[in-house]
Amino acid sequence: MARPILRTKLCDMLGIEYPILSAGMGPSLVGEKTGATVELVVAVSEAGGLGVLGAAGYTVDEMRDAILEIKKLTDKPYGVDLLLPSQTVSAGDQEFKGPQEISLTEVLKTLPKAHYDWIMKIKEEMGLPDSEGSFKLGSTAMRPHAAVRVCIEEKIPLFCAGLGNPGFMVPDAHAAGVKVLGISGNTRNAGKIAKSGADLVVAQGHEGGGHTGRIGSVALWPQAIDAAFPTPVLAAGGIGDGRGIAAALAVGCIGVWVGTRFLASVEGGALDVQKDAILKATDEDTRRSYLYTGKTSRATYNHFHDLWENSGLEPLGFPTQVLFASAMVGMFTKADEREYIGPFAGQVSGLIKEIKPAARILEDMVEETVDILSRKLPESVIAKA
Ligand SMILES: Cc1cc2nc3c(=O)[nH]c(=O)nc-3n(C[C@H](O)[C@H](O)[C@H](O)COP(=O)(O)O)c2cc1C
Repeated sequence: MARPILRTKLCDMLGIEYPILSAGMGPSLVGEKTGATVELVVAVSEAGGLGVLGAAGYTVDEMRDAILEIKKLTDKPYGVDLLLPSQTVSAGDQEFKGPQEISLTEVLKTLPKAHYDWIMKIKEEMGLPDSEGSFKLGSTAMRPHAAVRVCIEEKIPLFCAGLGNPGFMVPDAHAAGVKVLGISGNTRNAGKIAKSGADLVVAQGHEGGGHTGRIGSVALWPQAIDAAFPTPVLAAGGIGDGRGIAAALAVGCIGVWVGTRFLASVEGGALDVQKDAILKATDEDTRRSYLYTGKTSRATYNHFHDLWENSGLEPLGFPTQVLFASAMVGMFTKADEREYIGPFAGQVSGLIKEIKPAARILEDMVEETVDILSRKLPESVIAKA
């Protein structure tokens, strides 16, 4: 059977067959592998979409190795996603002499006393073991400029900034033929990212997994399109099948950026216990809170949310809060306290009933979108100008 056709301007911009990007997903917490693995990137790009590596939790060297691995496995376009919050970009790269990793137990001692004391109290009350994880001092989050330099040296097809405005690196990226994408959760930032020279803006609604803003997708997408004009916009937040894609294209987005649905794939980097949590979740079973990173992020609901809400603690800044949360999750994991563990995931979790290979997910999405746009809509909607 002939392959279905689903093309937008995005396909020409990026040299891809279908306007579907798998989102750059880093680890939910320190010590986990990334959500968007090399395997996921290659599977999505080979299937005709564009896979984006989640490089937020890697060291700069690990990120370069992953890029080289992708180049070995596919000649199709791909992307790399980093977190570039303005405070870490303006602080400049931090160079560390000596060991490049310290244990979470050591890191804990650097937390404010109230947070440290609270962790010790919960540890004692629940009889939790010490956390086993470690924190990489040379991660891309601590060395954003070095990480960006490697992406440009490697001439990756698409650079994606998950947090912050990538404007500062646009001239160097363009000089090397690298396209730049920025992600925004509100209209103002969509406009700012577009004005700073990025090629593409992702507008991610409140319902999305990971870091997320206050505006729902359907309200955000058209407003972001107007604010970013003439820079094109991709839709994100709550897209899990062809119905979501058809809706986003009807609003005027030129493609989609899909996270949770691709995390819950064979190649997605989440642990099996986390993928199970997504399969079990209904639309009501995620929470948005400051708990995991100090910025609002959405994860599958678990009892750690309740502990945090009752703690009376103020969230620490990013990335210190990541260390705080990682230390606790490290202890819960070691104690096999599954009810206290949940991955970053969006409200679309309720739609996900099966862990499938990423290529199947993409093919099913394309088939359903084409069916809606070419058959179902013309049959069910009467519209004449
Ligand atoms: C497990 C997970 C990790 C994520 N990590 C990142 C990240 O490191 N960088 C980033 O730009 N976005 C990250 N996100 C957000 C996604 O890129 C994307 O915007 C979001 O998942 C879209 O909403 P959806 O989950 O409803 O598809 C993450 C999302 C998830 C589910």
